Amino acid sequence: MTEGSAYSFGDSELAAERLALVARVFEPAMRKFLERAAPRHLHLALDLGCGPGHTTETLAVLTCPDRTVGLDVSEQFLERARKRAGSRLEFVRHDVTDLPFPARPADLIFSRLLLSHLPEPEKQVARWVGELTQDGVLLNDEVERIETRLEQFARYLALTERRIRASGGELYLGPRLDALREGTGFRQHSSDLVRVAPPTGEVATMFRLNLRAMRADGRLEGFASATELGVIGRELDELAGSKAEGEIVWSLRQTVFSPA
Ligand SMILES: C[S@@+](CC[C@H](N)C(=O)[O-])C[C@H]1O[C@@H](n2cnc3c(N)ncnc32)[C@H](O)[C@@H]1O
Repeated sequence: MTEGSAYSFGDSELAAERLALVARVFEPAMRKFLERAAPRHLHLALDLGCGPGHTTETLAVLTCPDRTVGLDVSEQFLERARKRAGSRLEFVRHDVTDLPFPARPADLIFSRLLLSHLPEPEKQVARWVGELTQDGVLLNDEVERIETRLEQFARYLALTERRIRASGGELYLGPRLDALREGTGFRQHSSDLVRVAPPTGEVATMFRLNLRAMRADGRLEGFASATELGVIGRELDELAGSKAEGEIVWSLRQTVFSPA
């Protein structure tokens, strides 16, 4: 990824470590989504914004396409993905706001936690559906809301939300995708909410990795003072050892779109 890239969280080693944890926390929800919504007998499956390839691997294992291709703008992430997956999966550097995709038409296009970082997500949906076969489906896994009774998490989330918005994205994109029932050449096939309630310690670890990664890359300059960032960091450090459960709950919006 180029320096100063629009992607809010960067692609450093810390960012990759965070995505490994994100993968573990959200994998069961992704698994159920694919089991519910992925067609059988796929020729080509694409994972948009694949990062270091965790989602691509899950996609390949669960849907068994002839060909699975992960697309991302970050060469660092793609290198990691290639190392882990070997030659079983393909990873190609591509900005997914640019069409056509390097492999097409796809029977299945999957994207998780990507549309929230892109401008005009409704337009991206319409354009991505155009990269599908006539029977193909586009599956998006995004955040509807995150509820927490811990002020420490709320403070971190408010900061992250501001950071994403400054790059033209929207953290809580779910409601907009739910409201997107149809458009030129596409229609919404289904829209479901899925709850994920990870243990407090795991969430704090995930959040503090992101905080560190963003601070190290200078991505939080102008968003909070060094003192405020220090406070949030210490609060997350303290929570990282917590064994508590039920203190933070994600509602994920899982939408399926298909050609009209
Ligand atoms: C939050 S991460 C999600 C990674 C993975 N989908 C997951 O759920 O673990 C977002 C990913 O999208 C990638 N990304 C951001 N903007 C992109 C673009 N325009 N084209 C391709 N990839 C992009 C980033 O490099 C990053 O790997």
